[in-house]
Amino acid sequence: MNIIESRIDRDSEEYRKNHDAMKALVDDLKAELKRAREDRSEKARKRNAELGKLTVQERLDRLLDPDTPWLEIAPMAARDMYGGRVHGAGSRCGIGVVNGREVMVNASDPMIKGGTIYPMGVKKALRIQTIAMENRLPTVNLVDSGGAFLPLQSEIFPDVDDGGRIFYNQAIMSKMNIPQVTAVMGLCTAGGAYIPAMSDHVVHVNGTGAIFLGGPPLVKAATGEEVTAEELGGAMVHCRESGVSDYYAEDDAEAIEIVRDIVGILPQPEKSRIPTRPPQDPLYDQEELYGIVPRRITTPYDCREVIARLVDGSEFLEFKALYGPTLVCGWAYIHGYQVGILGNNGILFSNSALKATQFIQLCDRQGIPLLFLQNINGYIIGREYERGGITKDGHKMVHAVSTATVPKFTVIIGASFGAGNYGMCGRAYGPRFLWTWPNAKIGVMGGEQAADVLVSIKNDQMIREGQDPLPQEFIDAIRQPIIDQAEKEGNAYYSTANLWDDGILDPALTRDVLGLALSVSLNAPMNERDQGHGTFRM
Ligand code: COA
Repeated sequence: MNIIESRIDRDSEEYRKNHDAMKALVDDLKAELKRAREDRSEKARKRNAELGKLTVQERLDRLLDPDTPWLEIAPMAARDMYGGRVHGAGSRCGIGVVNGREVMVNASDPMIKGGTIYPMGVKKALRIQTIAMENRLPTVNLVDSGGAFLPLQSEIFPDVDDGGRIFYNQAIMSKMNIPQVTAVMGLCTAGGAYIPAMSDHVVHVNGTGAIFLGGPPLVKAATGEEVTAEELGGAMVHCRESGVSDYYAEDDAEAIEIVRDIVGILPQPEKSRIPTRPPQDPLYDQEELYGIVPRRITTPYDCREVIARLVDGSEFLEFKALYGPTLVCGWAYIHGYQVGILGNNGILFSNSALKATQFIQLCDRQGIPLLFLQNINGYIIGREYERGGITKDGHKMVHAVSTATVPKFTVIIGASFGAGNYGMCGRAYGPRFLWTWPNAKIGVMGGEQAADVLVSIKNDQMIREGQDPLPQEFIDAIRQPIIDQAEKEGNAYYSTANLWDDGILDPALTRDVLGLALSVSLNAPMNERDQGHGTFRM
């Protein structure tokens, strides 16, 4: 393989300015992540301590093997929603190592509104289950939740992708032979009672853990019966009488020890094999990515500079290097795992789309995972290109991305606009994981372009109706709100709040996160893949 030779001038003013701008974004990101982890009210902290419970961070610290990686998923989901303090949509979720085994963890945070589930909390729980199913990860639930956040109950209850889907998925996961272990460390009320009930193993903490379909107030209202939570659904009731729970624990610490023991006895299926070689660091410092990525999203740059800092030995076997140059494709290794990489170097033309299609098919046939580095303004438009069939060539790429069954991973390292988002394996195209960098911009089109389109539509309307075209002040009044809205809704934080991604990454950590994700993806069998395609439009 060839070594990518970096052409970056680290002493240039451009590099320094880019570096400062990205460093500032990364510092903000670290502060935001810390706030999401630590910003809890004194009242909630006090109540948690009074009940003798560990905090969610302490629970995670005890659950996970010491000094092993933790890949947190969507830690800033619901950011700025519901008054701005429902951090992570009320839960801490991620992939970690428990007793030597990679598992998915979903831990409710009782210090955020009693661990209740908001609409984004449902979306996050479903995303966590999707990741667990696609990567065949055993799941550990640490439940401590007041159930549905009642003021928003209509938004989380009956629809196909609402709360009921969580329990439906649990049954499907069980059928798929994905073990589910639940520790009841607080309330599991109403629908929430099904989280332990539908798990394979249930650990129940005495005193704080309770499972019931209707809590004491509801029982009193419905039947007049007066009963405490402990009498209704405590550990003694469910471990000794009902049989809903399997393992009795005196406190949080003991429950987590039991969970670790249960994970330890789960069968360890062999991981899938893909071509590997001994891992090797890239030749260039990953923090140089800060100086490489231009501070203005519209400034072009060579994505090989990014690839050189992500892949082992900065080695890259480039595919069709001279053809369709606005898309760079090729093979490399990341932490020892072979991957096929597609990275944008400009707008997608017919030839770059065809190259992508062929490359994706090759990787899919050969069982090589795909990595998409998205920095794309879209497919080329205009009379010449429509005549040249850009739409049918773009279709081939979108088709190949959709039907490829090897693990796919996407990192939005810059722009993600229009159908480019689709062709480069946006969220809807089933990447096992999708992350954004803090500089990312996402939208159907840029704010300026969207504003121009709307002004032009309005002007055409006026002319059609025999009126004068819009005066400048009207044009400004139409344009500015659209540009402001695109700015607000098109940034990485808005994306991560809405769970369009699995998190925002510090560019310098991207390589390690990809290495973890590749390892995780191999828990799912590769030999069950259906490598067919539909009909390509020629
Ligand atoms: N919907 C909306 N808000 C809820 C809630 C729910 N289901 N459950 C709890 N909360 C809120 C409380 O109003 C409180 O808000 P505040 O901090 O702004 O005052 C916060 O969550 C913490 O609740 P609190 O009761 O003070 O804490 P706790 O640790 O003593 O008890 C629970 C937590 C979850 C055990 C308890 O609040 C409870 O029993 N909730 C109702 C559970 C239920 O019946 N859910 C049915 C829904 S399917």
